[in-house]
Amino acid sequence: VIAENLKSADFPGVFESLADLGSHLESLVAGHSKLFVLTDENTLSCCWPKMAAACPLLNEAHMLEIDPGDDNKCLEIAGQLWSCLLETKADRNALIINLGGGVITDLGGFVASAYKRGIAYINIPTTLMAQTDAAIGGKTGINHDRIKNVVGTFHPPKTTLICPVFLETLEYEELLSGLAEMLKHGLIADKTLWNDLVNINPKELINRADLIGRSIAVKTYITTEDPHEKGIRKLLNAGHTIGHAIESQAVAKGKPLSHGRAVAMGMAFESTLALAKGLLTQDENSEIQTVLNSFFGPPDLSELTTEDLMQFVLNDKKNQHDKFLFALPTGIGTAAFDVEIKEDEIATCLLSLK
Ligand SMILES: NC(=O)c1ccc[n+]([C@@H]2O[C@H](COP(=O)([O-])OP(=O)(O)OC[C@H]3O[C@@H](n4cnc5c(N)ncnc54)[C@H](O)[C@@H]3O)[C@@H](O)[C@H]2O)c1
Repeated sequence: VIAENLKSADFPGVFESLADLGSHLESLVAGHSKLFVLTDENTLSCCWPKMAAACPLLNEAHMLEIDPGDDNKCLEIAGQLWSCLLETKADRNALIINLGGGVITDLGGFVASAYKRGIAYINIPTTLMAQTDAAIGGKTGINHDRIKNVVGTFHPPKTTLICPVFLETLEYEELLSGLAEMLKHGLIADKTLWNDLVNINPKELINRADLIGRSIAVKTYITTEDPHEKGIRKLLNAGHTIGHAIESQAVAKGKPLSHGRAVAMGMAFESTLALAKGLLTQDENSEIQTVLNSFFGPPDLSELTTEDLMQFVLNDKKNQHDKFLFALPTGIGTAAFDVEIKEDEIATCLLSLK
């Protein structure tokens, strides 16, 4: 059903050129009392000069800059940003433009959602991960007490504007990270997208506004149908229950992984769970494992124990009434949510993948 509806999905603008994005932005910022541009150190040097040249009006903006890295998506930095907004006398009609990856769009969206009970913001995502996932769907968030995204809001941006030109300066590993989420969109909802991605050279994605747009269409369609994650939005958690556990464990061991790489490992694990539950055929699971291996290598789960995994799975936001609920593929291009998985099924799966 999702794939059939994708053609009509209303997804945010993907602009082939920065000039087009800039002139569109110019019309959107008019009428706001004050403009703020949030960047991290990398997007300030790689993306801001391009953006300022494409939209001269932004030269009047107040710049807000943070250090790069997921650690900065936290309450302390949010507090510093609220202080900056207060010092510059930002009122309720101020606008924040988030220019950066998922850390910037999550943090800037969160700051905007709570300042004076909510001001407007626009996302201009600059990583493949943020363009195809983090900046779409209206979820904002920060990490707290070493748990990722545990504090946050639903506060959609005024709009999200995307231009693949920003990806030219992105590290290869970051392109791979975004590709993991694009593959997930194909796996859960769009077999044609999956088929078009399986043999791609990740570097080619810089010139594939069409594939980026189709991946965004999946996320936009699902999040528009179910903005508050009561039903089909849970499908987007495919690969994430185990992926978050792997990501959190890697951080705890001082060997952090990119979010996308952890999600790819989570997808490999959860597809094996789906096979064990009879939701996937042997052939479908083999195809998924082969594709994920070709981009990310075999998942290294050698240091992971069931106790480690369960510690994080127990905290998962998707659990209900002490049941562990997963979103699992039911084929290539289809998936189911609220599939109950027991601890012993997780243990057996982990053993089979070691
Ligand atoms: N809200 C959601 O629905 C959602 C969904 C998925 C992920 N996320 C969040 O997104 C974050 C991950 O996003 P990310 O992978 O974009 O991480 P990120 O924002 O940390 O960006 C990765 C790195 O790339 C750098 N960078 C960004 N754009 C660049 C460019 N154009 N050229 C060169 N360097 C650039 C950044 O400075 C950073 O060092 C996580 O915090 C995750 O929880 C949120």
